[in-house]
Amino acid sequence: MSKKDIISLSDFTKDEFHNLFDRAFELKDRHKKGIVENSLAAKTVGLIFEKKSTRTRISFEAAAAQLGATPLFISATDTQLARSEPIPDAARVLSRYLDALVLRTYSQDTIADFGKYCDIPVINALSDMYHPCQILSDLMTVMEKKKFLENLKIAWVGDGNNMAHSWINAASVLGFCLSLACPVGYEPDQGVLDRAAKKSGKRILVCNDPVKAVSGANVINTDVWASMGQEAEAEARKSVFEPFQVNAQLVSLADKDAIVMHCLPAHRGEEISEEVLEGPQSVVWDQAENKLHMHKALLEMLVAGA
Ligand code: CP
Ligand code: NVA
Repeated sequence: MSKKDIISLSDFTKDEFHNLFDRAFELKDRHKKGIVENSLAAKTVGLIFEKKSTRTRISFEAAAAQLGATPLFISATDTQLARSEPIPDAARVLSRYLDALVLRTYSQDTIADFGKYCDIPVINALSDMYHPCQILSDLMTVMEKKKFLENLKIAWVGDGNNMAHSWINAASVLGFCLSLACPVGYEPDQGVLDRAAKKSGKRILVCNDPVKAVSGANVINTDVWASMGQEAEAEARKSVFEPFQVNAQLVSLADKDAIVMHCLPAHRGEEISEEVLEGPQSVVWDQAENKLHMHKALLEMLVAGA
């Protein structure tokens, strides 16, 4: 069997999404019952993170450990990569030690290059361009709360960033309506939108009006206004993004049973109000938990071939 990478979600099939949801729910249930898993016994999962992480790193490490594998966190500054060792060389060597490699990078090309030269599965744990694993567990959370995805209206309010791009990729396959509201000049990448539109027709809509995006929505998503690597732009972005705050007034325009999601970390009072983040419609803590269960399902699929 040839190895599979998770570089983006653009090549995922509907069946692959649903198989992962099914297994992640099963693993969640088994975890709650205290069942000990052994599907990745004697395997080693390496993690190299160029950027900070709380949830993704720790849930991947815990997921590997709970499946019987050894997680190996490799400091991005301590390998010879930091001294310009070429990726093709490092990738071929790491493939001989590890069974999977989880990468968080600035450049999407870094992940693509590792994918090209590694003989083991490579998993994108966030790049400037995409955050595919986050959207997999976020979709699991939507399934958990809403029971289905088809015909839902999912709103994205804020930056047309890595999270938005992965939502667009998912929407192009899964048949929900994705309505994105971003400030002028901060819309998603046109290439990502064009490729998605070829698959999905008119189900993905981009506008500059949060009211339009959120009206009648079943799910409201937001994220920080300045992503990792954009710290120098953070102050300038605040005034541009201010009308895009997810607050009680905006949420009141959505479906009355709408859920509010945020991948975290959140900046209370900026992209989301404290009242909404901690309010009854917020599902952010379940959303964060589901990263553990989804990452287990992903590692099983990629490493154990399950
Ligand atoms: N949501 C998410 O990716 O969080 P971390 O940056 O803490 O991993
Ligand atoms: N868009 C954010 C997501 C953090 C999980 C960033 O890239 O920093």
